[in-house]
Amino acid sequence: MTLARPIIIDTDPGQDDAIAILLALASPEVDVLAVTTVAGNVPQPLVTDNALALLTLANRTDVPVYRGCERPLLRPLYTAEYVHGPSGVDGAELPEPTVRQEPGHGVDLIIEACLDADEPVTLCPLGPLTNIGMAIAKEPRIVDHIREIVWMGGAFDEPGNTTELAEFNAYVDPHAVHVVFTAGVPLTIMPLDVTHRALMTPDHVERLEGYEAPVAQAAAGMIRFYERYDIDKYDIPGAPMHDPCVIAYLIDPSMFSGVDALVAVDITNEATIGNTTADRHAEPTATYMDGVDADRFFDLLVTRLGRL
Ligand code: BDR
Ligand code: CA
Repeated sequence: MTLARPIIIDTDPGQDDAIAILLALASPEVDVLAVTTVAGNVPQPLVTDNALALLTLANRTDVPVYRGCERPLLRPLYTAEYVHGPSGVDGAELPEPTVRQEPGHGVDLIIEACLDADEPVTLCPLGPLTNIGMAIAKEPRIVDHIREIVWMGGAFDEPGNTTELAEFNAYVDPHAVHVVFTAGVPLTIMPLDVTHRALMTPDHVERLEGYEAPVAQAAAGMIRFYERYDIDKYDIPGAPMHDPCVIAYLIDPSMFSGVDALVAVDITNEATIGNTTADRHAEPTATYMDGVDADRFFDLLVTRLGRL
């Protein structure tokens, strides 16, 4: 039997963040040490309140929540209520949180957890990389203590979803992306190249709706709200499950395929800022995924969420 892999989820919920958090809580392969929050899809304190409500829904208030950064490193905060609704998790009535955020800042929690861990921690950022970039800037020694960063963000061969060239998480805090990309840390990326192949089609949502438990019902409600944006914009048959790709990768990496490359992000030109690029011929600094077995992915996602 393999031991659960210790992870910290850094997140800006967000319906797809919510599904990723629930998938992690339903999965014995990972041990969620903490959830840290970052302003992104919606501002603070909403993202923190949403994380607390999701843990309350899943009956997992033993997982501590730490509030992280309020805004990106250099740029003003750009949010995505046009995708996620004003609450960030529209589509479900989440319970009132029965616990509060922990005292202390999310960035400090990340630093302490990395330095103090018996076993190297995997960081799972599902939003802008502000907290991770801040943690590396504040305490660069953490780089040698991180097992891996698995980030949802960026777009390489795929067009952006926020500008023509930039994916949302990269667009919101490109300077933090630059810090992480140049830190020399083991890095795996789930860009739009793979998440736009992980589409939650109506049959998957109906399967999820078939489970009566409150978690499955809330998850299906959130997806029903969230799916309209990408279906309308891209004329595709379902919502991309961006952030759950990170957790699914940790559970079963054999579902994914990818390439090694030297990755970079544009931080110099306003017209192209947040554009992520990959040079497959240079010394690699990351692996990015561009393929997923969607049948296996959704089988895992739906059955795990149905368990909670
Ligand atoms: C990413 O942006 C957010 O809207 C989603 O939660 C996801 O992390 C997709 O571009
Ligand atoms: Ca997110």
